[in-house]
Amino acid sequence: MAFLLRTFVPLFLQVCVLSWSAWAKVELTMHESVEVYLGDSAQIPCQYSFTNADNEPSIVIIQWFVRAAGDNSRMRIFYGDDSQQMVDNNTNYSGRIEVTSDQQGTQLTIQDVKLSDEKEFFCQVNGMAAGNAEGKTHLRVFAPPEAPVIEGVFTGISVTNEVPSKVASCEARNGFPKPNITWYRNGMPLMSSPGHVNVLTLVTRDFRDFYSVQSTLEYKVAKEDKDAHFFCEVSFFVPAAIRTVESNSINVTVHYPTTMVELWKESPQGLVKEGDTVELRCQGDGNPPSPFVFNREQDPDEDLESRGDVLFLSPVSRKDSGIYQCRPLDTDDYADVKGEMQLTVHYLDPAVVVPKDSEVMLKGEDLIATCNALSSLKTSTVWYKDGQQVGSGNTLHLRDATYATTGEYACEVTVPSLPALHTSGSVHIIVQGGAQLVGEEQEVQLEEAAGRMVNLSCEAQGQPLPVINWNIIGSQNWHEVVNQANRHIAHSVVSVKVTSDISALCNASNDMGTEVKAFSIKAIPMVTSTAPFSPAEGSGVIIVVIILCLLLLAILGSVLYFLHKKGKIPCGRSGKQEITKEKTTKDDIVVEMKTNTKNEEAVLLKAVNGDKKGPNEQVTAG
Ligand SMILES: *[C@@H]1O[C@H](CO)[C@@H](O)[C@H](O)[C@H]1NC(C)=O
Ligand SMILES: *[C@@H]1O[C@H](CO)[C@@H](O)[C@H](O)[C@H]1NC(C)=O
Ligand SMILES: *[C@@H]1O[C@H](CO)[C@@H](O)[C@H](O)[C@H]1NC(C)=O
Ligand SMILES: *[C@@H]1O[C@H](CO)[C@@H](O)[C@H](O)[C@H]1NC(C)=O
Ligand SMILES: *[C@@H]1O[C@H](CO)[C@@H](O)[C@H](O)[C@H]1NC(C)=O
Ligand SMILES: *[C@@H]1O[C@H](CO)[C@@H](O)[C@H](O)[C@H]1NC(C)=O
Repeated sequence: MAFLLRTFVPLFLQVCVLSWSAWAKVELTMHESVEVYLGDSAQIPCQYSFTNADNEPSIVIIQWFVRAAGDNSRMRIFYGDDSQQMVDNNTNYSGRIEVTSDQQGTQLTIQDVKLSDEKEFFCQVNGMAAGNAEGKTHLRVFAPPEAPVIEGVFTGISVTNEVPSKVASCEARNGFPKPNITWYRNGMPLMSSPGHVNVLTLVTRDFRDFYSVQSTLEYKVAKEDKDAHFFCEVSFFVPAAIRTVESNSINVTVHYPTTMVELWKESPQGLVKEGDTVELRCQGDGNPPSPFVFNREQDPDEDLESRGDVLFLSPVSRKDSGIYQCRPLDTDDYADVKGEMQLTVHYLDPAVVVPKDSEVMLKGEDLIATCNALSSLKTSTVWYKDGQQVGSGNTLHLRDATYATTGEYACEVTVPSLPALHTSGSVHIIVQGGAQLVGEEQEVQLEEAAGRMVNLSCEAQGQPLPVINWNIIGSQNWHEVVNQANRHIAHSVVSVKVTSDISALCNASNDMGTEVKAFSIKAIPMVTSTAPFSPAEGSGVIIVVIILCLLLLAILGSVLYFLHKKGKIPCGRSGKQEITKEKTTKDDIVVEMKTNTKNEEAVLLKAVNGDKKGPNEQVTAG
């Protein structure tokens, strides 16, 4: 650094002093002062001339003296004349000074200047009759101080302090002459001002004459000072100049009370539902951050247990809804600084379904079922039966109930804005009704060849499930081959052997009612000759055969009668009987054809189809 360069700097602070007296004839010139860094060598010139040229001095005596400031006595340090040049023994300058002279004057050189050399040096010239003169130069010595060291206070400073508080101290050590310390805040010098800025300065001087300056800044901090930076600057004289060196910057921790508080819900995000863990966070603008107390608006005096600036509510219920407040503990009681927020805990109660559990309704009836779940939010209700949506909204209309209406109806209640909330309920609907036969016919008439099996089927619906009883008159040989039931339909099939005309009653009944279905089966006697008929011949062939038989019988009858009249053939009794029997059978068939042609055709067709398909084929009616 430039100011550290140890250079000899002569300084002409003023016009040289002219020392002369009226009677003297010597002109002597010296600098008022010579400035030099500590440790350098100082040259103090002393120029003189004898003005009276007529009177050249034969002998000139030159002496140098030194005098400490404020001291009257002075001490000679050098003596010189034409014959000898002598540095005085036993002075602080013995061995450290040198005097050189020429025609214009003399010059004192001091080696290794010390702080104690800051004195007045006198040059005395004596030319006897030619006159004499004396002059002086003040030797000024400079030692730049070490760079200033700043130390801020580590503790926070409160803006509520009434008097300025210590902010920092600064020390500039080992300077000469005494350096000054100036304080700066954000680059602007701080002037002492009562009640706001105090600067306390302590100057010490050590045994080597060095000055050390210690300065303490007391400052009344404001909240804005939390961002301010402070430094000190040391200023000191150097030869021919004033130099300054700045310390590092420091900042201060400013403590200020909370003036504004904010309270907000940290978690969960979005809407809060019952069972959640809620975290409310309070934050103020004070420094250091203040602890807070939480309370509910309704209970201002009841503090809630919190962890620092966070209030945990777990698990929340609808009772926890309300206004929450937090207050800093660092403000005085008068200031009403608080944070406030409304917490809403949403809920969805279990669904209440009316009718409850299960409900019996009669066939054809109407019913309105409702499903309600109390909620703080808008809900949406959907009804399901067997996994299929059957309705939406709180009410479900069941109109004109049928047995198919029977079943479990579930309602699902959801909260669209808070999907985590949902509930469900259900009602079991039972549709009751008397036994009711399935199918159009209440009476079935059919005919069946004797010896065949016929299946009689009876299906009945109802709630409770109908019971099917059979009452069969005309055949002992029957048994139930099917007995099935689904939810509300009973199905029974009996297999009956047709031996003679049969009257069968299917009695389907439950507590609510009874329905009866009647079957009447006409047994058709078996005709063996019909069995081998081929399908291609049909009824026409039968008629032709029958006519041919009748013709043959007529011819045979007339022949026998003719032979009998002539007495050629004896008449046997048994043979006549067999013929009659056969004839009787054939007559029966003919009668049937004539009386009920339509039925006969059906029976015959069935028989034909039966032969085609197999002997076991039977007619099933129901
Ligand atoms: C100073 O001391 C030296 C010897 O130490 C001596 O020769 C000299 O004369 C002395 N000078 C004076 C002025 O006393
Ligand atoms: C020499 O200097 C010291 C201080 O540096 C002082 O105390 C002492 O008196 C001086 N001696 C003389 C002879 O001036
Ligand atoms: C204050 O100083 C500290 C270190 O001393 C530093 O960490 C902090 O950032 C400074 N603050 C400001 C506002 O400059
Ligand atoms: C120190 O302050 C004093 C008083 O204000 C002033 O006279 C002197 O010149 C200053 N010195 C320096 C080195 O600034
Ligand atoms: C049908 O059955 C029920 C109950 O078994 C009985 O009360 C009723 O009399 C029966 N009806 C007929 C026609 O057999
Ligand atoms: C009657 O029904 C039973 C059971 O379904 C069946 O096994 C049988 O073959 C049926 N009989 C006739 C003649 O259709």
